[in-house]
Amino acid sequence: MDLTDLLLWGVFPYIVLTIFIGGHVYRYQKDQFGWTTKSSEFLEKKRLRIGSLLFHWGIIFVFGGHVLGLIIPVSFYNALGITEHMYHVIAITFGVPVGIAALIGIILLTYRRISIKRIKATTSTSDWVTLIFLILAIVTGLIATSLNVDSNGFDYRTTIAPWLRGLFIFNVQPELMATIPIWFKIHIYATFALYVVWPFTRLVHAFSFPVKYLRRSYVIYKKRIPQTKKVSEESSI
Ligand code: HEM
Repeated sequence: MDLTDLLLWGVFPYIVLTIFIGGHVYRYQKDQFGWTTKSSEFLEKKRLRIGSLLFHWGIIFVFGGHVLGLIIPVSFYNALGITEHMYHVIAITFGVPVGIAALIGIILLTYRRISIKRIKATTSTSDWVTLIFLILAIVTGLIATSLNVDSNGFDYRTTIAPWLRGLFIFNVQPELMATIPIWFKIHIYATFALYVVWPFTRLVHAFSFPVKYLRRSYVIYKKRIPQTKKVSEESSI
């Protein structure tokens, strides 16, 4: 086996994974109070809402698509009678629009950060790095998908997917990645860059989604009647 392939697809992924997991543990130990979205909602709401909704819903569906394509084995689809062509058509029809939604969302969020003075002033280097790496991951994913529309015999469910799953069970198979189209390689490495910086950015909030909030009781806010008004109301009785 080629040494470069072994390094690229058998060694570096574990270095990335180690930084990702170790980085989160380190950050949790050292900076629990900084473990936040660093929300800027109180500085500007309107543009945030549309950008954030598009990006987050887009990326949630992109994630769902990745689970369907990379985690669920091809044998499952075969057993259901879903052919390669059917799978590919469904993946493109749903994958591309949600990827574009995520891209438009992140572009709007970046524009908001550049164009609003006080948001720009509160944006750190790690925020800029996060935005750039997110855009790179999404753009390269979309390019790889678009160039693979007529798949030409390439099926990532029999190459990239088993390679990825193999990493998690220490069944390293770099040979599966040797001949995949270049844009998929670039896409995967763009996402590696994202995983390396992830623990040191506000992206950590992805692991602290307040699920309990969905079930907790509402917090009831009541209007306060000013003291003077209250006294005059009472004296008039
Ligand atoms: C190691 C992790 C990853 C692997 C192996 C991977 C692999 C793939 C593959 C095989 C496709 C083609 C899907 C198709 O044509 O149906 C794809 C598309 C895409 N990927 Fe990834 N990806 C990874 C992580 C990510 C991450 C972290 C992001 C975003 C931050 C991302 C964003 C996208 C986008 C936007 C597309 C275009 C199609 C769609 O919207 O689903 N990927 N990726």
